[in-house]
Amino acid sequence: MHAMQTPIDHLSLQRIVDDLAARGWSQQDIFLPDALTRDLAAECRRRAAAGDLEPASVGRGPAQEVREGIRGDRIQWLEPGQSVFCDQYLNVMDSLRVALNRDLFMGLEDFESHFAFYPPGAFYKRHVDRFRDDDRRMVSAVLYLNADWLPEQGGQLRMYLKDDVSHDVQPAGGCLAVFLSGDVPHEVLPASRDRLSLTGWFRRRGNDPFP
Ligand code: OGA
Ligand code: MN
Repeated sequence: MHAMQTPIDHLSLQRIVDDLAARGWSQQDIFLPDALTRDLAAECRRRAAAGDLEPASVGRGPAQEVREGIRGDRIQWLEPGQSVFCDQYLNVMDSLRVALNRDLFMGLEDFESHFAFYPPGAFYKRHVDRFRDDDRRMVSAVLYLNADWLPEQGGQLRMYLKDDVSHDVQPAGGCLAVFLSGDVPHEVLPASRDRLSLTGWFRRRGNDPFP
């Protein structure tokens, strides 16, 4: 494995930590090197073509169900050791986890993450990432994998911030959006082309009601 070779941008890790402390969200337009972003995009497309991605569901435990009127993406959860590129991404995200714990005392224990593939027209209606019955998710992080994204192609992540202010993130390759999972309602707008990402959550220890 070449996970150790991933160049980690310590400045952007520090900016994320500072942004989260100050306002609860952060956007880093150039978080990963282009080559790694391209490799991750190819990996996502390969898995989609192989039929490994499944319709995403909504809710937890017995209430979990697929509802395309709420979200229309297809996903596959990451496991370490499946691919060099995925392991490099997980390695970078673990550095972010350590930085958040060191500076903000968040007590984050792990990071769960999945590829997400939104075909044209798919969306994810306004929601909050922390489940009512499972509050382990503390910080959400979405890495976009789309080369040459144009604003008129849609697909923005729209975050609803304080005082009726919203902020749109373009899902452009290499960009990372980070926010406090319990504090920032958000939605994914429909796009006119495929929209690829790696979406993940830093979690603290808790009692999983649905192990
Ligand atoms: C999610 C989500 C945002 C995005 O998967 O919970 O809100 O921009 N994703 O893909
Ligand atoms: Mn979400």
